Amino acid sequence: MAAYEPYMGEASISLTGTPISLTITGKDPIRKIFLQKLINCRSPNMFSTTLSKPHSARKRMISNIYSKSYLHSSPQLPAISQTLIYDRLLPIIQSAGKSIVLDVLELNFAVTMDFINAYLFGLPNGSNFLQEEEIRRHWLSLYQSRKYYTFWPQELPNLTAWLAKMGILVVPKWVDSANEEIEAWCLEMCDAAEISIATSSADEQNPESQSVVYKQLKNALANDISKSAPTVPPPPIPNQHLLLASEMLDHLAAGHETSGITLTYLTHELSQRPHLQAQLRSELLTLLPPLLYPSDTQMLPSQKDLDALPLLHAILMETLRLHPALPGGQPRITPRTPTTLGKFTDIPGGVRVNAQAYSLHRNADVFPEPEVWRPERWLEGGKEGGDAKNRWFWAFGSGGRRCVGSNFAMHGTSNLPFYLRT
Ligand code: HEM
Repeated sequence: MAAYEPYMGEASISLTGTPISLTITGKDPIRKIFLQKLINCRSPNMFSTTLSKPHSARKRMISNIYSKSYLHSSPQLPAISQTLIYDRLLPIIQSAGKSIVLDVLELNFAVTMDFINAYLFGLPNGSNFLQEEEIRRHWLSLYQSRKYYTFWPQELPNLTAWLAKMGILVVPKWVDSANEEIEAWCLEMCDAAEISIATSSADEQNPESQSVVYKQLKNALANDISKSAPTVPPPPIPNQHLLLASEMLDHLAAGHETSGITLTYLTHELSQRPHLQAQLRSELLTLLPPLLYPSDTQMLPSQKDLDALPLLHAILMETLRLHPALPGGQPRITPRTPTTLGKFTDIPGGVRVNAQAYSLHRNADVFPEPEVWRPERWLEGGKEGGDAKNRWFWAFGSGGRRCVGSNFAMHGTSNLPFYLRT
């Protein structure tokens, strides 16, 4: 559904040209709803913050290091990609097909996890799921096994807590233990990043060692507190350690799973189309330096050049369109005054409404034969057709709550068709 957040606070809004028109009569915005406040490490984070002001203040602290321009010029990302792709991923792929069968989903989770963790904490402080098979299997099974129980704390947190007090555990105890283990693992990486920052062991000679996101948020929180309380020395930030860990855990969870799922669909779709693989391979061959394995230099082409490849971009967009990694409802709540959403008028305040990429991406007027994976559609239709498709594309959401990691996701996933190394 269309972008709500940028229009917040206006008296009467009618969005024309956007997929679904939205009218709000009154001053209140449509707000995000998320009931579970202390989502990770008993501490809130950006995603769980429903109020707009603190949410956007937090987002401003980190959005710069996830921006396209930052990622394009970042010294850290090429260094991270080089190690992950040449030293860890390609040897695994090389070995497959001889005697080893690969679980592609698991491998993609591993690569996306290592990638995001390296950017959050620095490569030496992050995970090495690609090479540490047992650890990754244990972690992924911990992470996935809890999912059957997320409904209760997310949708009915008060009832869940009350039932627990009455001795009725709707979420079994082992789920708490799994959560604690995952949190402890994240806290360990935060501690390692702290040590790197304190000892300056991650210097400019080793850009891959820098804990880009952790350091950025730590400094921004420190600046924030010193601005609001100008006492000397400034008071300690309450639970800063847990707050940082909660945010990092959210990014690594949001980042690895969505990107891993996307890559797996991409691999699946490409695997059925040898002709398209050949076309993509030719496009990749236009890059300089070319991706060769084994390689003496182990240099990768620039992200800017990768982003400019039309077929690769079309393949990513079409994969995210047909198989959005977050296909289901993004919950929002209507304001106190009556709201119109599409053909539904006079929706009272406090009603939960959902927007979902799955349905928007299946509008046959914009995406003919919507169930067919056809990347070429993104190369057709000129500017006007392209604009309509982009307007209906909602894999990363929109407005103030739009995915903060969307550029990072496009970066990570665009590196991976290197499976088709040349
Ligand atoms: C293909 C990959 C990805 C997809 C499809 C995706 C999708 C989304 C969507 C739809 C939302 C909006 C949720 C809402 O409206 O409530 C979102 C939010 C978010 N995503 Fe992603 N995401 C991806 C990758 C990443 C990565 C790599 C990161 C790592 C930083 C990330 C971090 C986040 C965070 C922190 C939020 C919350 C933003 C906020 O509260 O303002 N995502 N993502």
